Amino acid sequence: MIRTATRSDLPAVVDLENLSFAEPWDLRTFRSYVHHPGFIVFDEDGSICGYVILVVIADDAHLASIAIHPKHRRRNIGSCLLDSCMLLAKTNSFPLVRLEVREKNKTAQDFYLANGFEAVAIIPDYYPDDNAIVMERRT
Ligand SMILES: CC(C)(COP(=O)(O)OP(=O)(O)OC[C@H]1O[C@@H](n2cnc3c(N)ncnc32)[C@H](O)[C@@H]1OP(=O)(O)O)[C@@H](O)C(=O)NCCC(=O)NCCS
Repeated sequence: MIRTATRSDLPAVVDLENLSFAEPWDLRTFRSYVHHPGFIVFDEDGSICGYVILVVIADDAHLASIAIHPKHRRRNIGSCLLDSCMLLAKTNSFPLVRLEVREKNKTAQDFYLANGFEAVAIIPDYYPDDNAIVMERRT
């Protein structure tokens, strides 16, 4: 089931975040997004397999983060969460969804390309240790 995140999902979200990123977001950061309509989780019989966060930045729908628990990857769950984001953005009249991804994160780039995003720009030194690729997809 895909649904908006609640406070009780946060421990599981933080767990999968820690397994997914070298510099994970902390509980406090996720807490600030609870009840935000763009904080969406994939709940499989009470187990949180992944999350996505879509926010509005400077009038753009922006994919702030997405992660799937390692044991649930390549099951199309990330793509389903992305579809929910695209629908949410479209419903709210945003013409496109934009994101930044680390240049070194080829897995994520392949995932976004497979889901219809295209690379539109590169931002040098966006991260302390990497460039960012800016990717977009029309809603
Ligand atoms: C990127 C991520 C969210 C993908 O989630 P997922 O649920 O495994 O992705 P899906 O199963 O929906 O994959 C859809 C398609 O994306 C591409 N893809 C996904 N993972 C891939 C990989 N490891 N290598 C190559 N292509 C990949 C494939 O084309 C895949 O289709 P296929 O399985 O039929 O070949 C997941 O790997 C993850 O959580 N990574 C760590 C966190 C991260 O890097 N987040 C992005 C930050 S910008």
